[in-house]
Amino acid sequence: MNIQERIKELVDILNKANYEYYELDNPTLTDQEFDKYLRELETLEKEYPEYKLPDSPTERVGGEVIDKFSKITHSIPMLSLPDVFNEQEIIDFDNRIRKEGFNPEYVCELKIDGLSGSFHYHDSILISGATRGNGRVGEDITHNVKTIKSLPLKLHKDIKDIEVRGEIYLGKKTLEELNKKRKEQNLPLLQNCRNAAAGSIRQLDSKIAAERNLDCWIYHLPNPEDFGIKTHKEALDFMASLGLKVNPANRLVKDIKGILEFIEEYAAKRKALSYDIDGVVIKVNDLATQKRLGFTAKHPRWAIAYKFPAEEVLTKLTDIIFTVGRTGKITPNAVLEPVILMGSTIRRATLHNEDYVLEKGLKIGDIVSIRKAGDVIPEVVEAKIERRTGNEIDFKMIDTCPICNTKLIKKDEQVDYYCPNNMCPARNIEKLIHFCSRKAMDIEGLGEKVVEDFFNMHFINDIPDIYDLGKYQKDLMELEGYGKKSIDNFLQAIENSKNNSLERLLFGIGIENIGEKTALILAKKYSTLDNLMLVDLEELQKQKDIGPIIAKSLRDYFDNEDNIKVINKLKEIGVNMTYLGAAEKYNENITNKKFVITGSISAMSRDEIEKIIDNYGGHASSSVTKSTDVVIVGDKPGSKYDKAVELKKEIWNEEKLMEILNSLDI
Ligand code: IVH
Repeated sequence: MNIQERIKELVDILNKANYEYYELDNPTLTDQEFDKYLRELETLEKEYPEYKLPDSPTERVGGEVIDKFSKITHSIPMLSLPDVFNEQEIIDFDNRIRKEGFNPEYVCELKIDGLSGSFHYHDSILISGATRGNGRVGEDITHNVKTIKSLPLKLHKDIKDIEVRGEIYLGKKTLEELNKKRKEQNLPLLQNCRNAAAGSIRQLDSKIAAERNLDCWIYHLPNPEDFGIKTHKEALDFMASLGLKVNPANRLVKDIKGILEFIEEYAAKRKALSYDIDGVVIKVNDLATQKRLGFTAKHPRWAIAYKFPAEEVLTKLTDIIFTVGRTGKITPNAVLEPVILMGSTIRRATLHNEDYVLEKGLKIGDIVSIRKAGDVIPEVVEAKIERRTGNEIDFKMIDTCPICNTKLIKKDEQVDYYCPNNMCPARNIEKLIHFCSRKAMDIEGLGEKVVEDFFNMHFINDIPDIYDLGKYQKDLMELEGYGKKSIDNFLQAIENSKNNSLERLLFGIGIENIGEKTALILAKKYSTLDNLMLVDLEELQKQKDIGPIIAKSLRDYFDNEDNIKVINKLKEIGVNMTYLGAAEKYNENITNKKFVITGSISAMSRDEIEKIIDNYGGHASSSVTKSTDVVIVGDKPGSKYDKAVELKKEIWNEEKLMEILNSLDI
């Protein structure tokens, strides 16, 4: 055997051993034998570089260093899948496909929590690897991809050209071992398998990527027709026959029942797997059907990703910053390394007050667990003490306002600190946001972000400026992200808000301790703002439902000259300051709440219920959204019920509804 033949033999022995070890999980060579052959191959390749083969396992050790990532355009875009979170959404997906005249079978697969990659083989040799990037153009990561031992450098069959796609990931054990080493070296720990995989694949030096022991599952063949393949299941089997690592946990199912069984099975097995999964991917099996279902701009219409309900996720608390609310209240907020929880990216979480942070013993730099409490508010559960490196920084409450530097005060032994400066700019933003909010003046289109933008650009500095925004119509139109339509809409909403009944204004101007309920009581009792302003403290205190705290807040507010200036300006502008009696009746369960009714209520018609809600100043609407307050569920409810459960909305059954309606004076 000559040198060239020996090199070829060694490459084949080592690649076969690699395949048996990393893909079949069935090693045939001992580590010592493997190392002996590898060393022999390295020596020969050094001496005879002209004989080095493109699929030589020596390629895997890394060493290639690039100075920047070049771009690779995907010939077929790399799309992501629409996420679904419950059984109903899976049923909806199936129904939609059936409505289009298909009778589909599905393949269920595990949704691997890593990052997707595209891999090209030419003449059976792995020639390039790319990240998904923006779906159209990704980054060339060939040098790192070659270090992934489970990705064959040469396919087991002769294939001229093929692209395959899959998920690059890092195993749970690998992460553990890596972090153990990093801890010893005093390096920051990698937080989860996904982030670690993403960080590793974006290394310029492939030696580092090689040390990270990345892995890969292949799950997609973008050009099945090139190989005469008719179903996704066939594509998976075909790719496996080429020596590619296809996850064995895939199953052809006939119906929803099969899908749900697969989900249930793997939700239970999830913890025991050696890699992270975050759900199950459901794909139409028949490729001709897939083709006919086609794509939306972002996703294929033939597949969905069911996401397991998020438990808690871990992330790093990178900082604690302080915000100033509209009453001057200072709130510490957790700044988190972005992490995805139930489909949204969490970057911030409120830490409420100093005591809360101290009780949890949080330090800056801690790894913390995050949970979504209720509908949307993320919550920091606890610091993972065992993950501390010693470099964490103790939390320290501030003593001056982060915005205007005024010394903070505490009120009557309360836990909260306040900035006492009435003119503090931060207070003004919050004041403006509150004024425009749904329960106050209800100016649609002027949400938090928009108000913040306009405040920062000095279009609005104080409440009356909102009514002057029309003056800047042209300037606004030049701003990025503000189209003519949205500007016209919010200008109209601003105009409409002038006709609101007094209670909205009273609540909106942000008098301390005046919530929407108190505002309504005051508006009803005194009819106009002028009347209310004239009432003295003593008389106010005497009123039932008001009490000394509210009375004092009102007096303090109306005795402040700056506030009177604001009120006078609003009056000049034409903002209504009279109680219009729009919400004739008040009931704390109904007034100002948004309702959705689903299913049938036996005791009364939907119209009758809606009329009562309306009379009591509530709103009935047709779809369950974030802003819905209560969902009334009758017999045979629709998908709105599932949505209500998912969004953790308050649910009233018929009994509860009748109990409340019976207590009303209708
Ligand atoms: S199929 C057009 N299958 O989840 C088909 N994706 O948004 C595209 N993923 O971007 C992907 N496991 O990064 C598919 N078995 C699997 C998957 C999977 C994980 C990832 C992939 C994709 C995202 C879905």
